[in-house]
Amino acid sequence: MLAPILLAAVAVLSVLSVALGVNVLRLQRAKRQGGLGKPWILPRVGVEALDPVFRMDELGPTRATEVRYIGRGVLPVLGGTSDYETWILSVLATRATAMFEFGTCTGKTAYLWARNLPPGGRVVTLTLSPESIREYANASGDDRAAVAHALEESRFTRYLYTGTDVADRITQLYGDSKAFDPAPYAAQFDVIFIDGSHAYSYVHSDTEKALRMIRPGGVILWHDYTGPDASPDVYRALNELAPRLDLRHIKGTTLVFHRAAAGHA
Ligand SMILES: C[S@@+](CC[C@H](N)C(=O)[O-])C[C@H]1O[C@@H](n2cnc3c(N)ncnc32)[C@H](O)[C@@H]1O
Repeated sequence: MLAPILLAAVAVLSVLSVALGVNVLRLQRAKRQGGLGKPWILPRVGVEALDPVFRMDELGPTRATEVRYIGRGVLPVLGGTSDYETWILSVLATRATAMFEFGTCTGKTAYLWARNLPPGGRVVTLTLSPESIREYANASGDDRAAVAHALEESRFTRYLYTGTDVADRITQLYGDSKAFDPAPYAAQFDVIFIDGSHAYSYVHSDTEKALRMIRPGGVILWHDYTGPDASPDVYRALNELAPRLDLRHIKGTTLVFHRAAAGHA
């Protein structure tokens, strides 16, 4: 008589512990995604909202999204995009003519853009070099960790595209993005990737410049919308911009995008 009762009790306890485990995982995920009580602010959309080319069929992503590609590997490479993000950015290149990047780092995105662009396409990428680090313009209130990362990621002098047959498609600019003049590039780019300093004042400054440089109907993307813990300044700045700009967060990524209106940005 005691055995069946014990068995039933063990079964109930097992169910309860699984339920508890699931809830703990949910809480951990909620914390990672924005903090308890601080949910993602921006609407989350599938990647097909960025461009219909990403629509899947019953076999998954179609051949229209085939690209030249380099994976992330297991080495922790500074400032890199995830494999999914790399693929998305590379696919965008196949339908672009002019692309701009804030923050070159290893040059991986610049290289893959140049490699996947149709003939005649061009890439402009702006970065701080070891020599131009002193131009960095810190602002009070900027996240200290974001500033430290920005400077740490400014140590590259050789890029993935260096010495390749697509290097001549890339214009490498050096200097602090706050000092960068967007006027000569007004309304020129189909795609702009904001991935320079992740400090608050820079996210705002780079965004204002991107809005001037994007062509009607073009798309601006931001990297590292990772919630309030990992990149708090990107999270704060983009959430603040949301009432003014139509911003969408692509599910499964840290990418946020804004498509400029066909008539104006
Ligand atoms: C996260 S990494 C960029 C990764 C790159 N977009 C990619 O996809 O491979 C950040 C880059 O931004 C640059 N950067 C940081 N602060 C900057 C500033 N104030 N002006 C211009 N570039 C800056 C760094 O030198 C570094 O190259």
